Amino acid sequence: MRWSEPQQAMLREMGLRLWLPAAAAAEQPVAATATAVTAATAPVEAERAAATVPPAPAAVRPPTLAASPATPPSAPQPVTRAPADPALLAMDWPALRSAVETCRACSLCETRQQTVFGVGHPRAHWMIVGEAPGEQEDGLGEPFVGESGQLLDRMLRALGLSRDATEPTEPADPARQVYIANALKCRPPRNRNPTAAERASCQPFLERQLALVQPRVILAMGRFAVQSLLGSDEPIGKLRGRLHDWRGVPLVVTYHPAYLLRQPADKARAWDDLCLAATCLD
Ligand code: URA
Repeated sequence: MRWSEPQQAMLREMGLRLWLPAAAAAEQPVAATATAVTAATAPVEAERAAATVPPAPAAVRPPTLAASPATPPSAPQPVTRAPADPALLAMDWPALRSAVETCRACSLCETRQQTVFGVGHPRAHWMIVGEAPGEQEDGLGEPFVGESGQLLDRMLRALGLSRDATEPTEPADPARQVYIANALKCRPPRNRNPTAAERASCQPFLERQLALVQPRVILAMGRFAVQSLLGSDEPIGKLRGRLHDWRGVPLVVTYHPAYLLRQPADKARAWDDLCLAATCLD
């Protein structure tokens, strides 16, 4: 298998070591055919070939807070949706941020240092949804600032994407920007798993963020992001590698960067997922 230079750059950014068999190395100067990567990707290709990939919608419908069925829910819906507050449906960014900052809907407000709202371009074409703030995020008030955030930034950079909302000389191009938010806006104590009730309390905030951003593709990273958006309890390995739908917006499920730090062999699959998400914007 031959990798284009952008693909090689992406794999290098993600920390994947590539090597070339001697013959191919003579033809291809930089890095490589990734035997390890190819091996890791092979089952994915099979899985993807077997999957039905609906075409990306021509125009993205702005999400609404009304309940809508997610892509074939494969397990009982674990999250009971909090009734949408009509006031929330009308909130602009400042009002929403303030509602999050003052939220006391669940007990996580007792232990948080601060809420972690979200970061990025307010109309980014990519929306990345993580799980919940960790210790560093709780301290700084920004999602994904720890080690897993650094990996996420490298992955995004490999795709030519950034979370920076402003550029020094010209307005940021929303096509090259992401908006990052978590399913939960407060850190669960000692990074314990969030409860279904906590996820349900926070869900309207995430949904309003999605409605304001109107992304063209959503990347759901990790189990709790997936539970919040798709209502599915299936393992990431079963849901990734194909397109899902979130109220008309294509959604790609992938591994959480913290998991990838523990299981670097799965970075190749995550890379595949990012490429799949990128195809929604082609
Ligand atoms: N993990 C997440 O899911 N979100 C963060 O903001 C940090 C770590």
